[in-house]
Amino acid sequence: MNKVRSVLTIGAALCLMGTGLSLPAHAADEANGKALALKWCAACHVVAEDQDIVSGASLPSFFDVANGGAYTEESLKTFLADPHPKMPDMALTNFEIADLARYILSLKED
Ligand code: HEC
Repeated sequence: MNKVRSVLTIGAALCLMGTGLSLPAHAADEANGKALALKWCAACHVVAEDQDIVSGASLPSFFDVANGGAYTEESLKTFLADPHPKMPDMALTNFEIADLARYILSLKED
């Protein structure tokens, strides 16, 4: 009986460790992506419907990016990690890049 209990305890401890270990993994966060887009991208791109500044009309809006079919989440991340020369290098972290890519593609219409 005691042995069973200690096996259960070890099992529970391993489970807890498992959750602990999985915490640092980053799930792309769309809401944060939107906040980042409004902060870093809205000066040049139209990034959201509720954006107050309407900027460079000739640049692709994030709606165009999402619906144009040219980008997948992966290729968008690659683009943002090494931005277009005409774009400032904003030194985004990989987490910020993942959030932005997730947000931009959330603008895709079905
Ligand atoms: C200083 C102005 C500026 C800022 C700030 C800026 N961009 Fe850009 N962006 C550009 C320009 C210029 C282009 C190139 C457009 C072209 O060559 O047709 C571009 C192109 C892009 C493209 C490619 C669009 C396409 O059709 O291929 C994406 C995606 C993009 N930007 C995302 C972002 C994101 C995300 C941010 C914020 C992290 C951002 N941009 C911030 C100016 C900017």
